[in-house]
Amino acid sequence: MNKYDIHTHILPAIDDGSQDIDISVVLLEELESQGVTHLALTPHFYTQYSPVTNHDVKEFVAKRQNAYNLVKSEYSGSIRLILGCELHLTQNLMCLEDITPFCYENGRYMLTEMPYNCTFKSDDIKLLESVINKYGVTPILAHIERYPVLLKNQQLLEKLISMGCMAQVNTESLCKMFVGQKLIKYLNSGLVQFIGTDTHSTVRGCDFAKGYKVISKKCTPNVIENLSNYGKKLFGL
Ligand SMILES: [Fe+2]
Repeated sequence: MNKYDIHTHILPAIDDGSQDIDISVVLLEELESQGVTHLALTPHFYTQYSPVTNHDVKEFVAKRQNAYNLVKSEYSGSIRLILGCELHLTQNLMCLEDITPFCYENGRYMLTEMPYNCTFKSDDIKLLESVINKYGVTPILAHIERYPVLLKNQQLLEKLISMGCMAQVNTESLCKMFVGQKLIKYLNSGLVQFIGTDTHSTVRGCDFAKGYKVISKKCTPNVIENLSNYGKKLFGL
């Protein structure tokens, strides 16, 4: 069974994750030893400071590609890698004509981070609808457990999923007592389609096996199959 980690900050020297190529290789080797077979490299792109220009996008894409080339030249393990981005979604993105450079490389899925204090009120919903309808892109909401309102209000998550969003949880959170139970319930209800380690370093993230073990133990058998099927789609397999 393939195992997909769709959220990491392993590309070197591009965000607050890995700071050099040696660390990147260590992190990949560690995740490989934990059973990850497919992994997406999703550096942060922040949009809260000013309207995003085509130049900003070009600069990001070039920097990301250079970091990726370095990883491909130094990492000789078996994990299949793809590029992506963790996009911080604000109104400042909306001046772009095309946001597909922020999508995972094989399609139109985009790992999307909302502002920390987001409560998914009407303006946030409108932004997500624009991503879906104006740009034809599927937002995958990163670490949904970060938003207290989504843990409290299952109907709100159901609404987001039914309007075309998808959801990712961090493996670390699955191991936490209260939050973990809630996320297991969401996984069993089909409200979460992806998991990721959100690996930044050997001590932040990097815990795929622990999270996966919780899923194997506590989720209904179809959850593992669903994670694998959604992962396949994301990786264009
Ligand atoms: Fe992240």
